[in-house]
Amino acid sequence: MSDQKQRVFSGIQPSGNLTIGNYLGALKNWVAVQQENENFFCIVDLHAITVPQDPKVLAEKIREVAAIYLAVGLDPRHCTIFRQSAVPGHTELAWLLNCVARFGELSRMTQFKDKTVRGGSDSASAGLFTYPVLMAADILLYNADLVPVGDDQRQHLELSRTIARRFNHTYGETFVVPKPMILSAGARVMGLDDPTVKMSKSAGSPGHYIAILDEPDVIRKKVRRAKTDSGSEVTATADKPAITNLLDIYSATTGRTIPELEDEYEGRGYGDLKRDLGDAVAEALAPIRTRALELLSDPAELDSLLAAGSEKAREASAPVLRDARSRMGLG
Ligand code: TYM
Repeated sequence: MSDQKQRVFSGIQPSGNLTIGNYLGALKNWVAVQQENENFFCIVDLHAITVPQDPKVLAEKIREVAAIYLAVGLDPRHCTIFRQSAVPGHTELAWLLNCVARFGELSRMTQFKDKTVRGGSDSASAGLFTYPVLMAADILLYNADLVPVGDDQRQHLELSRTIARRFNHTYGETFVVPKPMILSAGARVMGLDDPTVKMSKSAGSPGHYIAILDEPDVIRKKVRRAKTDSGSEVTATADKPAITNLLDIYSATTGRTIPELEDEYEGRGYGDLKRDLGDAVAEALAPIRTRALELLSDPAELDSLLAAGSEKAREASAPVLRDARSRMGLG
């Protein structure tokens, strides 16, 4: 049976506070598919250091992400949960793939351009530039078939596929070409204070995002204060980006469709929508928060889970790395 299982790989950076965007775009979907697949869920700490991190805070955030992985319902019986930097194969394969990826391809990555708009690319770390190659290495190292992510990772996934195909073509069939798994609802949650920018865990103001670990009353307040559009009809239309975003969050949180929600709020105002949405999100996240805080009270247990996960990840990835090395003449 287990031979027929597909391999799933995905990861989240342990930087900032994980948001409802990370939950709806990624974590919720990982939980939904975990039973039918063989899963590797990574805490991508090497990606986090492509921008400066406070070492003490980073160490805490790594545990926090591990606690959130478990608290949303990932089950270690189905999922290998581990830290990227504990498996040296990620950086080793990243170097091999750095010699396959092209400068021009990396130059076209919109996330690099977005992240360097303010400071300029000259002062960005070289790691930020080659970040998508490390991401390709993460995925290809496990011969993953499926990669459940939010919409913002689409271009990086496409590059991973290109790198896999090029490697296979140049050196012989080595890697599985991975497929993205991006759902329609919740794949691109936008900021509560500005529906034209993606909700991000590194964004400054707390009113911008709902953190997975926010208290229920804080969540209700943030939703109440979310920006709205002019008019009063609750519809997901191009001229209403803020209401469209609230409806998308509502739909992804509850599983109800947007047309269903539009019907329900016909003739009612934005206030009703916000009140009910605040309640729905607060209710969905409250048990996750409670469980995560419980888990965080026993850091040794989280560390031992991560150590066991890293061991399994090293074992699973070793043959693929060996194969890639030997194909390139480094056997
Ligand atoms: P990261 O840490 O920025 O985000 C983790 C996951 O959350 C999704 N996501 C969102 N989904 C919907 N709406 C949003 N506002 C939102 N913000 C974030 C992301 O799409 C992602 O799925 N490069 C990746 C981490 C990574 C990775 C990998 C992912 C490293 N290696 C290999 C998959 C496979 C990143 O920075 O995600």
